[in-house]
Formats: sequence, structure tokens, C-alpha cells
Amino acid sequence: MPDKFIRQRRNWLIESNPGCDKLDMPKTVDSNIVKASPRAIREAADRLRHGGLVSFPTETVYGLGADATSDSAVARIFEVKGRPRFNPLIVHVSSIGPARGVVSFGDRASRLAEAFWPGALSLVLSRAPECPISLLASAGLETLAVRCPDHPVARALIEAAGVPIAAPSANVSGKVSPTTAGHVGADLGSKVDLILDGGRCPVGIESTVVGITPRGVTLLRPGGIGRIEIEEVLGEALLGRITDGTAIDAPGQMESHYAPRLALRLNVAEVAPGEALLAFGKPLPGAAVTLNLSADGDTREAAANLFAMMRELDRSGCGAMAVMPVPMRGLGLAINDRLSRAAAGAASR
Ligand code: TXA
Ligand code: MG
Repeated sequence: MPDKFIRQRRNWLIESNPGCDKLDMPKTVDSNIVKASPRAIREAADRLRHGGLVSFPTETVYGLGADATSDSAVARIFEVKGRPRFNPLIVHVSSIGPARGVVSFGDRASRLAEAFWPGALSLVLSRAPECPISLLASAGLETLAVRCPDHPVARALIEAAGVPIAAPSANVSGKVSPTTAGHVGADLGSKVDLILDGGRCPVGIESTVVGITPRGVTLLRPGGIGRIEIEEVLGEALLGRITDGTAIDAPGQMESHYAPRLALRLNVAEVAPGEALLAFGKPLPGAAVTLNLSADGDTREAAANLFAMMRELDRSGCGAMAVMPVPMRGLGLAINDRLSRAAAGAASR
């Protein structure tokens, strides 16, 4: 960690604990939690622009943010969270204007955004034609979740970064969402570049997630904004049925999940004539077209390339796609999960 951050935290600790500099420095100096001052927010934005991970408060829960337009920064999110699957992420924007650049807004979406943004409602919409957001952020889906948070620190950070921020809740996969900077520190610690401390999250539960299609609006995850409030604005009932407060949609199983047109052969040891190759490490010879997930055998780089390369090979004009084995280390588990779903999806066509 750069010295300037250590100095900055030290100064903050001394300001908030007068006299502590005369004692042994408290242990918290080793943590990367900083008070969300304007200066710390500028530093955090700088980290984000350079591919870093920053945890920040929103009105719902703390998020683990990365530049949503960067495949490699988004891959780091999955790595740090230890997610066994590429669950799609919510992209955070500062207002409706920037949201229109990444997703297509129809009438229902506009009404919901006008009524509830900034606030605890995430809208799942079709990606805009020139959407600059990483395909990995939406786990290869044609849709993307967007939200404009109602928290001054979150909004200042997005503005200062100048890019939409992809952010899941800042907890290790399988644990509950954090509502204080201390929770984030305890869970993720130094795996995050910086944790902005903006106090306790006022709402304390995650945003409500709704999916909007021409058919209607589906409640995908209950959260900070109530079903009835949403139905009042829409003037129609939400589709779908949530059986209990914890049910969430499992996007990995959704039919709309991207499956390549080409048949996929996984864990290949050799390439058949006319096949496109999705390589990992040293490429096998003999492919009509080869794209390499990571020549260095780096699973984070491979994750960053996965969805874009599958799409590109799909357009290559080859008859089938052969995929070299990807080891289970690091993001390998999530990559293999996604590849086997893609293969099953292609086979069921
Ligand atoms: O309050 C919140 O929403 C917090 C703060 C940080 O904004 N974020 C959060 O993110 O809870 P996460 O990743 O823990 O949960 C996102 C939820 C997941 O259930 C995911 O499956 C769903 O949103 N989701 C995201 N994109 C989706 C998509 N394209 N289609 C369907 N579901 C999607
Ligand atoms: Mg979560």
C-alpha cells in the first residue's frame, strides 16, 4: 500500500483519537479503511480509474466497486468475493442520463427511475446497442442491472470516477451483506484497495431488483423498495411470485443466459478439423481460428476475456468450438461453471 494512504489514515486516526500518536499506533492503522472525506473519495476514484477495487457505502449495503467498463477490474471483483459462479452485477450510475447510455429505457423503466431514483431499486433492462459495460459484469447476459444509489458518498464517487461502477455487496460469497465499513474490513480486508467509511447504511438491506420486458415487470429480488410502492407507480401488478424474503432469481439458470450458437467441446486435448479454439495457456495446434483466454495461464485474465471471446468465436464461421481445460484454481471454478452451462445450452438447441 502506498505511503500516502498510510499517512492519510494515520492523520485521520490522530484527528479522531487525539493523543493516539503519542501511544503505540493502534492496530486499525494496518487496515485500509478511510473516512470518506472529499479527498479520500478523489483517491478512491483514482484507484477505480486504474483498475482498482474500492468498497463504498450506499444507502442499502456497502458495495465492492470496480470500473464497470473494464473486464479485468470486474474479474477482480469475482476473484475477491470468491463467487463460484459469475452472478451478474449491478452497475451504479449517478443519474438517469448515464444509465440511458448503457441500457435501453422504455416507458415503464423511465417511470420507475423517475419515481425511485436515486434509491434502492435496481432495474434489469436490455443492454443498449453500444453499451460500454464489460460483458463479464452482466455474466454474458443480454440484460444489465442498473441502479442510481441515494448516498452522498456513492454519488460523489461515481461522479469523480467518471465511469459507471459495477458493485455487488462487499461480502465474501455466502456471507451476509455488510452495513458498516468494519464489516467489509472483517470480510475482505486487504483484498480491497480501499474501504471508504461513510458510517452505517441507513436502509440496511439490498435494493429491490426488477426485470423489465415488454411483457411486464418481474420482481427478481425483494429489497429496500416495497412491491406495493412499485405497483402503484406502474399501475399494474408485478409478474412472478416470491415465496420468501430471501428468494432470488438464479440468473445462471436463466434461459436467456448467453449460450453460443456453436456446439462446444470442453477440456479438449486436440482440435478437430474446422474447429475454432478457445485456448488457455499454450494453444493446441490445428484450429481454424484461435483465441487465447490467457497465454500466461492466468484465470483472472481468462475470466475477463471469457464472454467476449465466446461471442467472437461464435461469429467466426467455424462449425464448432473446442475449449482447452481451465484449471480450477482462482476464477477457474466460475469459468468452468460458465463453460459447462454454455455447452449444455448450445447442446439443447
Ligand atoms: O443494494 C444493492 O443492490 C447492493 C448495493 C451495493 O448496490 N448490491 C447488491 O449486489 O446487492 P449483489 O451482486 O450482491 O446482488 C445483485 C443481484 C443478484 O441477485 C443478481 O443475480 C441480480 O442482482 N442481477 C444482477 N444483474 C442481473 C441481470 N442482468 N438479470 C437478473 N438478475 C440480475
Ligand atoms: Mg450480495
